[in-house]
Amino acid sequence: MLRSTFIDYHPTADFLENPLVVDRAEGLYYWDLEGKRYFDAIGGIFVAILGHRHPRLMDAVRRQMERVTFVPPLHSIAEVTLDFVERIGEVTPGNLNFVKAFSGGSEAVEAAMKFTRQYHKQSGNPGKYKFVSRYQSYHGGTFGGMSASGGGSRKSKFEPQMAGFPKVFPPTHYRDLFATWEEANRFAAQSFEDVIVNEDPDTVAGVIVEPIGNTGGIITPTEEYFQILRKICDRHNVTLIFDEVITGFAKTGKMFAAQTFGVTPDILCTGKGISAGVIPLGAMIAREDMAEAFSGPRGSNVHFAHGHTFAGNPLACAVGIAVIEEIVEQDLCAKAELLGEYLASRLARLKKLGVIREIRGRGILRGVELTEPTLGLALKKTALQHGIILRIDPSWFAVAPPLIAEESDIDEMCELIEQSLIAAMELAETPKLVRAG
Ligand SMILES: Cc1ncc(COP(=O)(O)O)c(C=O)c1O
Repeated sequence: MLRSTFIDYHPTADFLENPLVVDRAEGLYYWDLEGKRYFDAIGGIFVAILGHRHPRLMDAVRRQMERVTFVPPLHSIAEVTLDFVERIGEVTPGNLNFVKAFSGGSEAVEAAMKFTRQYHKQSGNPGKYKFVSRYQSYHGGTFGGMSASGGGSRKSKFEPQMAGFPKVFPPTHYRDLFATWEEANRFAAQSFEDVIVNEDPDTVAGVIVEPIGNTGGIITPTEEYFQILRKICDRHNVTLIFDEVITGFAKTGKMFAAQTFGVTPDILCTGKGISAGVIPLGAMIAREDMAEAFSGPRGSNVHFAHGHTFAGNPLACAVGIAVIEEIVEQDLCAKAELLGEYLASRLARLKKLGVIREIRGRGILRGVELTEPTLGLALKKTALQHGIILRIDPSWFAVAPPLIAEESDIDEMCELIEQSLIAAMELAETPKLVRAG
């Protein structure tokens, strides 16, 4: 059967070498068909922020199933969807209160870009259509999200991309050219304005960035980087979109990375952790006053010309509400910050192996950059052998343990990472093994 489907973004042949077919999951662990247990160090893929099969979320689905599981979005809305909209608005920064629920991150990103273009068209700036984004970013698998993404061969297979998506480099691209990380960030932030001005600001609708860039290896800019970016967008009437599909929902120590970095965008895109993986869910959250540009008189053609069949699905929204309530009631933002500090200190101990260039991230979202790309390839194998699931790219790996984890779980996770790394070094014949301490 495995030959009759595809694994996302990876050769099926690689997967078939060591196929992980999941039987069940609970809390911090998965089990495969042979009963082998795996520590889920990445919450599925930045999704299961409350671990697997959290009782409160299971209960929310069961209760909603007894009320209604689907309403037609063309001419109705479920009460639970309205409640969800209200709950999200309570935890977003500034006046980001206009919420449209979807079924995942790509849908949220597509909607944000369509909303932005339409907004500028009907508010006196019809020439604004371009989106400036970053190389090494990921904004989704659909054509708009892919065009905004900066992913080399992932994209070139599908060229030509959509027109009007100029790019800048993230700050890591310049880090070796400047004396300090702060200076590299200033330069990288300023490059947005260079591109906007050279493209002609009258043609630029938006800037879209992940506050912490996953695909580049948990690229974590300075707070000043976002302050500069905010000012540039204001100067040129460019809509600032934060893609918080990964960084949203407590991972960085606040509900959203926008709050962690202290800069409020005009639109915020969410997905993944918003439903903790129980039912597909995402949302586009825009400034309330932008949404006003979409409310024309009855019978007029002024409305957001967009929709999806499963947008605002009642089961998904019931789970989304339960996720927000759990985060708020258990103060999981504070926990992410504290546990994140512990996690960072535990990961720092891996430096003794001599193969780590940098550790980045905020809260429980952390990335470890390796000195040798071959090591990452070997780590993909050895991590699974040692029973741990990480997000691994050849030159870095990332972790984002679910917020039900305690320090002892972080210890177990870091032990497994260390064993997997040592095995990867042996497999890749990395010469720098220093078995100190
Ligand atoms: C930052 C970011 N944006 C958007 C997406 C797309 O989300 P989805 O896969 O739910 O469509 C992803 C998925 O990995 C992502 O990481």
